[in-house]
Amino acid sequence: MSTKTLRVLVLTCSTRPGALGPAVGQWLIDAIAPRATELGVELLPVALGDLALPFLDEEEEPASGLYRNEHTKRWSAMVDAADGFIAVTPEYNYGMPAAFKNALDYLGREWAWKPMGFVSYGNTSAGTRSVQHAKQVVTTLRLVPLGATVALRIADAVDGGRLRPDAGRDQAAVGVLDELVRLAHALRPMRERTRSDAGPVPGSYVRALTPDDAAEVLVLQRCCWVEEATANDTLAIPALEEPLEQVRAWLATWQTTGLWRDGRLLGMVRTRRVDGDWHVGRLGVVPDLRGQGVGRWLLREAEAAADASCSRIVLSTGAQSRHNIRLYHSQGYRTESSDGATATLTKPVSAHGAVGVSGEELAAAGR
Ligand SMILES: Cc1cc2nc3c(=O)[nH]c(=O)nc-3n(C[C@H](O)[C@H](O)[C@H](O)COP(=O)(O)O)c2cc1C
Repeated sequence: MSTKTLRVLVLTCSTRPGALGPAVGQWLIDAIAPRATELGVELLPVALGDLALPFLDEEEEPASGLYRNEHTKRWSAMVDAADGFIAVTPEYNYGMPAAFKNALDYLGREWAWKPMGFVSYGNTSAGTRSVQHAKQVVTTLRLVPLGATVALRIADAVDGGRLRPDAGRDQAAVGVLDELVRLAHALRPMRERTRSDAGPVPGSYVRALTPDDAAEVLVLQRCCWVEEATANDTLAIPALEEPLEQVRAWLATWQTTGLWRDGRLLGMVRTRRVDGDWHVGRLGVVPDLRGQGVGRWLLREAEAAADASCSRIVLSTGAQSRHNIRLYHSQGYRTESSDGATATLTKPVSAHGAVGVSGEELAAAGR
């Protein structure tokens, strides 16, 4: 199981009084809730009728992201925070309900690169024409429709306004969730890249790391600090020794910048203020990207984030890490102290924009 939880909205798309939609939605939630727990999925039921969205009444096009009305801002925040959707939709006149189309039309980038599954219901066609209609609309929004689906023929599946028990149907619903989760994880880099600043390597992007990224950070640390261990003839280096929980803990207290491409963590650096100093550390770059200026780029990002009221930037490295120390010196740092195991280097905050650039590359540095 991935360590990253997913938030999935279950959208009940019919809005009329006495509609069958809520009963279908409730069956779906009951059928998939145990699997959702196993997969680390938070299921959030949303009845489109409760959103009280009038027919699209925003002046600007949704692509602008400029929303005037509170109902739009609320809907935007809900969709934006979601990783995927399951639409529970009837078929109205061979198509999707107008309320569903309207709710889709309200927003733009909030939908992008998220999977959408469908549970349909209707008479002869079991709502499948509604789903076909919806699919051509949602792909325009960069929603990715699932292949797995559940389609209910009302005459077969409903008795007295409630769904008849059907283990096969329950299993099919779990199949929808499974596919949705796989796709939501696979699309995560697409979502992140759309919402993040570009990095120095083509296709890369930058985003803040959180405790949810601990597994990737652990792997990067174990890979990057081996050279530091060799240079200093010791394995007693925090970046090599820390267990997952410790990495998770420090990710909660440092501001850490991660450089990503296609879901792979390429590099990182962490910063935080300690008294009047700006501490920089855990600067690491994957082996196959060394020598391309990525480490220097990350160092500059870390320096640029320095609190203006800090007087110094402080970092440390192994006392025998000559390569790192030489490089830091070329970037305007001077060795403040060295106790035989660790060298501490500093640089005035005001000078950080004016230092020269070395042709060399930082590999892994900073305790
Ligand atoms: C406006 C409207 C149009 C409908 N059109 C179709 C249709 O094209 N195909 C179909 O199988 N059922 C159609 N039905 C029947 C619905 O499938 C059935 O009433 C279902 O319960 C509607 O979902 P709801 O109760 O959640 O609104 C239609 C129902 C309504 C109210």
